[in-house]
Formats: sequence, C-alpha cells, structure tokens
Amino acid sequence: MAILINEEKKLFTLNTKNTTYQMKVIDYGYLAHLYYGKKMDGDMSYVITHYDRGFSGNPYEAQEHREFSLDNIPLEYSCYGNGDFRTPAFNIKDIEGIHGCDLRYVSYEVMDSKYSLKGLPAAYTNDGEKGETLKIVLQDPQVGVEVDLLYGIIEDKDLITRSAIIRNISDADIFVAKASSVSLDFVTGDYDLIHFHGRHAMERMYEREAINHGVKKIGSTRGTSSHQHSPFVVIAGKDANEDAGDCYGISLLYSGSFNCEVEKDQTDQVRLNMGVQDEMFEYVLYPESEFVAPEVVMVYSPDGFADMSHKMHDVVRYNICRGEYKTKRRPILINSWEAVYFDFNGDDIVNIAKQASELGVEMLVLDDGWFGVRNDDKSGLGDWFVNEDKMGGPMADVVKRVKDLGMKFGIWIEPEMVSEKSNLFKEHPDYAFVIPGRKPVMGRSQLNLDFSRKEVVNCIFDQMTAVLDKIDVDYIKMDMNRSILNVYSMTEGIQNNGTILYKYVLGVYDFMERLQARYPKMFIEGCSGGGGRFDAGMMYYTPQIWCSDDTDAICRLDIQYGTSFGYPISVVGSHVSAVPNHQTGRTTPFNTRAVVAMAGSFGYELDLNKVSDEEKEEVKAQVENYKKYWDLLHNGLYYRLTDADKSKGVAAWSFVARDKSETLVNIVTVESFCNAPVPFVRVKGLDVDATYVDEETGAEYSGQGLDQIGLPVPLKFGEYNAYQIHLVRK
Ligand code: GLA
Repeated sequence: MAILINEEKKLFTLNTKNTTYQMKVIDYGYLAHLYYGKKMDGDMSYVITHYDRGFSGNPYEAQEHREFSLDNIPLEYSCYGNGDFRTPAFNIKDIEGIHGCDLRYVSYEVMDSKYSLKGLPAAYTNDGEKGETLKIVLQDPQVGVEVDLLYGIIEDKDLITRSAIIRNISDADIFVAKASSVSLDFVTGDYDLIHFHGRHAMERMYEREAINHGVKKIGSTRGTSSHQHSPFVVIAGKDANEDAGDCYGISLLYSGSFNCEVEKDQTDQVRLNMGVQDEMFEYVLYPESEFVAPEVVMVYSPDGFADMSHKMHDVVRYNICRGEYKTKRRPILINSWEAVYFDFNGDDIVNIAKQASELGVEMLVLDDGWFGVRNDDKSGLGDWFVNEDKMGGPMADVVKRVKDLGMKFGIWIEPEMVSEKSNLFKEHPDYAFVIPGRKPVMGRSQLNLDFSRKEVVNCIFDQMTAVLDKIDVDYIKMDMNRSILNVYSMTEGIQNNGTILYKYVLGVYDFMERLQARYPKMFIEGCSGGGGRFDAGMMYYTPQIWCSDDTDAICRLDIQYGTSFGYPISVVGSHVSAVPNHQTGRTTPFNTRAVVAMAGSFGYELDLNKVSDEEKEEVKAQVENYKKYWDLLHNGLYYRLTDADKSKGVAAWSFVARDKSETLVNIVTVESFCNAPVPFVRVKGLDVDATYVDEETGAEYSGQGLDQIGLPVPLKFGEYNAYQIHLVRK
C-alpha cells in the first residue's frame, strides 16, 4: 500500500518508491502538511511548532491559546479568512460579497486506482502499474463549501499528483475567487525557484532566483499557458545542481491562464501555490455544482536536476502522453511553412513531397494556407473548406499524389480562430470573443472563437471533419496564434474572464478528444505560434508540440535547454531549416542544425529546391542517423552536460541508454576564439568502471575519466561547429 493511515493520530502518509509525503489533522480539525521528501517512516508531527506571534489570527475555539495560529502552521490547502495571512491556496466569495472561509477536516477515502478528472487531463497508469488515490474532504458548513483534496500516487514513478474539487453545499450561489491545484508549504530551509520565462520565438528561458521575502508570481492571463511563462517550476535547495541536491519538479496539467506563486513568510517558511489564473477569476458555483481544479504532477529528487528531469520525463512520456504515437517513432517530416509560406499550389506541395521522399523523409505536412481565402494571414480563418482553385483540385487528389510517393500526409489547422474577413464571421459574428459596444483588440488580424460554447466547437468540428473524412490523414498540426482578449460569451450567465477562459480550455480539450477519437491512428502535434501552449496538459492530447517558431539552431540551444527540465525529448518538435535563418538571419552549418534538431522529434522545414546536392546527401545521412539513434534519443536518459550560461563557449547534452551500454554526446560550439583553451565536457550517467569506445574513431575512454574529466571538445576552425560522439561500452 502506498497510502498509510494512522486513524488514531489522523496521520496520512503517501509513499512512492523513493519519496514520502505526509500530512495530519491537527487541533480543531485543520489539515497540516508535515513532509515531502526522501522516503522515510516516522511521524513528522514535530515539525509543527507553536508560538504566540502578534497579529496572527487565532481560531475562536483556541480562546487563550494564542500560540495556535494558522499563520505559522504548514497547511495542505490554506484559505483566506481563518487567520493565515500568507498567500492563500483558496478563496471564496459569498452572495453578499464576503470573502473567505474556514476549511476543516471531515473525512477521507482511499481508492485502489489513480483518479481521473472529467474533461481535464490527468496522469494515468499503464498496464502493470499500480495507482492509488487518497481523497480528503474539507468543509466549511457556515459558508457552505466543501473541498475534495485528491492525491494520486503512482508508486514506481515516484509520482504524487494533486487536484481539488470545490463543491457548493449551500442553497445560495457562491463564487470561487481562487482555487489552486496544489499548495506546498516548506517549514525549513532556503530555497531557490527555477522557472522558465520567455517570449514568442524564445520560449522557456531558464532562470534561477532565491525565494526571498514577499511573493514572487509567475503565470499567464493570455488564455493559454503562454510563451511568457511555463506552468512547470522547480523548487531547489540552495546547493542543488544537476548532480546532487534537493529538488521538486512541479507541473500543472492545464493549457490556459495560470498562476504560480512562491512566498517566503515572516518566519522564513516557504509556500508554493499553483493552479488556474486567479486574477479576474470568479467562478460561480450554483448550489450542488462543482469546480474541478486541474491536476498538478510532482516529483522529488534528492539527487539533483538530472534525476528530477528523468522522473518528470518518464511521467510525461508514459503517464500523460497518449495515442498511437505515444512511444512509437514518429515519421520524419517536412513542413511546407518555411519552404513556401502561403505561396503554393497543389503541384508545389507534391513537388516538396517528391524531393523529400527521395532523401528518405517520411511525411509531408501541408501548413497554413490550404483553406478558405487564405493567401496571407489576414483572412480565411474559420472557413475550413479546401481552396480547390489554389490546390488545383480536391485535397484527396493532392493527398493521393503524396501517398503514391510512399509518404504520409499531415495538415495544419487553427480551429480556435476566426478572421474578420471570412464567411464564418459574416454568418456568426457572435461566435467570436468581442465585447458588445467595444472595438476588439486584434492579434495577427484575427479574433478568438468562443470555445466555451458547445455550438461553436461543434461548428468548427463539423467543418473540419468534413474535410478530414475525405482524406487519409496521418497527422494534424493544431495551431493557436493569438492571445485571448475581448472575453465575452454570448451565453447566459457569468461573464468574468476567468470563468469563460476556464470553460474555453475545457472546450479545446473536448475538441481534441473528439478529433482523436474519430481518427484514432492519426497523431496531433500541438502548436501556438511555436511553444505558446507547451504544457503537460496539452501533452495529454498532443504527444508532440512545435517547440518554438525560432528554428535558429543557436537560439534553439537555449530554448531546448530550458524545455528539457520539465518535458521529455519526444514532445519537442524540432526542424532543420534554411540559412540565413528566417527568424534571426544567422548562418550555421547544416550539420549543426541537424544535431540540434535531433534533440527532439525530428523534421525539416525548408525549400529543398534551394539545397545543394552536397546538402541533399547530408539530409540522407541525417535521416539515417536519426533512425539509428531514435531509440536512444527518446527512450534513453537525457543529460544536460553544460549550464545555461555555456561558460566554456559550448553547449552539450547527451542521451544515455538505461543500461549504460551506450551514450550519444552532442556538443555545439557557440563562441570561437583564436588559440583557445580546450573545453572538456563531463559525460554523465555512464558506468564508471567500464571502458567506452568511440564508434567512429575507435578511441577508448575510461568511464571514470569521462565522468571526472570529460571529453575534450575538438578545436575546429569556423563558427558553430557541432559534434555527435557515440560511445559504446566495451
Ligand atoms: C504559427 C506556427 C508556424 C506556422 C504558422 C502558420 O506561427 O507556429 O509554424 O504554422 O503559424 O501561419
């Protein structure tokens, strides 16, 4: 049993293979958090200390016991209004506008499997895996609210998940003003927060900072998880690094606006809350209705970031991603976007496919521009019928010609949008988010469709399936190209941003669930202007996401470095594109672009007419190389071998077989110097007692030497050289 309950002490212990999480019902029925860390057996109740601290509130029942205050006690699900003045996990407003409540323990229930959440993504168990659930019910009968705290455990994965279901048990409406999915209190220690900020075409930049007094908040109010912040964070001990130290990886399975805050309080305790956006959020709960907070998945490692990432990668890859291509090698693709943008016809597409197929590429992806009137990004969204004039006939003909070349076929869609210049907007202006009487704020000349409304989702679904039903489609790239604003739903009821945006996300999830059910063998790659909706929630529906609109290999080093902390290689869509790069103007060697793109799900995105014969030969070799190493890349363990600052002028990473029998070391030089010192890259995760042989040169290396000193990086003339070194155990 992973869940241990001491009825007498009201002590709840969750055990995974290597970690323990503990909580307890304390005086007056409050649920305190005691411990999350290395596996242990014991009662951690002693971590709760009581001192009278001025201006900290006391529960009424405590009377003269002023040393009892929730302001100082580590809690499982803190709420505003009962004496805890730290940032609350939960807040309620009643019909009179009074904020706050006082949640107390009511009961618990243990279930023999991992829970799932209706309409929302959640980690699941695979055959042969054991999952368990603990539900703890808290209640405030005066306000009339009940909260089910859900704890899921997948023991072998060291995974603990959390979610909360909020229920109105009164006979009046109440408003959920904040409902975090997780709240995690740390009584001791100094911690750092590692988070991943960014912008369009430069997502998930690593940043590490001390958790200082006050509240640090990251998140999104854009309706998507966003390019600007990732809903994955690490709480790290001060001395934690790649190889050692305490760290907690915490990932929110939600693709909409979110909130993550960490606070160091007056007595130096630390709290983390994470969940749906709370700004402008007032979710109305009618009597007996419920609000489901999205799931958070958490792993802890005492052994540093590499081990933490390995655990998180396995959870995402095996317990969150789904579908036919969950663990299968995905076809090596060529995407039409950076090759031809909007400027193509059916013959051009077939021609791209023909050239690519001769080089071993396996799938053609027809990107934006095939539907409605869409020759630039100013019109056509919402009109999901094939532009047969442009394509030179029915889409089925183009698909057949591509398939006759032995290639698979994929197509781009952007279901959540409408252009003002479209038939859909003319016929159903109310389907778009526009506030009556106000001019909408535009983004990429388009408006968001109101996916919180079933009829809007149905309208787009029906249009798209009418196209897809007629063709044999293997893949879809599902895009989303603006932040959400002008939020107003032409439906009855509450209109605040948070409520509608939450329902919007459920609408998007429903759309993808139905699409996947209709075409079970097809696989969907997510995209939002690259990685603007790159989150573990989306990965439940799309096991691969276009990582960034920036295909520059050197920028990708940073983007993929940051991404790798919380997300596995298999979900990272990564392509070789042309030089000078279309986003940065930088020129990098062809080989470097391929080495970088191989740290992901590999493909091409360039005009093969402009590629030299020599480079075409390189493409053939790269394709073979990717196929050769794919198993190691996607099923092996990923190690970051250099830090974010690339202090030695190189970026390096490796893939190591789980039995340590081989590794593929990847190195890119990012700075060139004359007469430079030789940088050494330490190679991690190998058998230190073994000898490894470089498959290409036959050179032999001691495992210990590779671990302690590392591999010397060749000093080669020129910029941005890349090396792939395959070492095999002798
Ligand atoms: C977004 C995507 C690109 C491409 C364009 C098409 O920017 O990230 O890859 O699909 O849209 O309009």
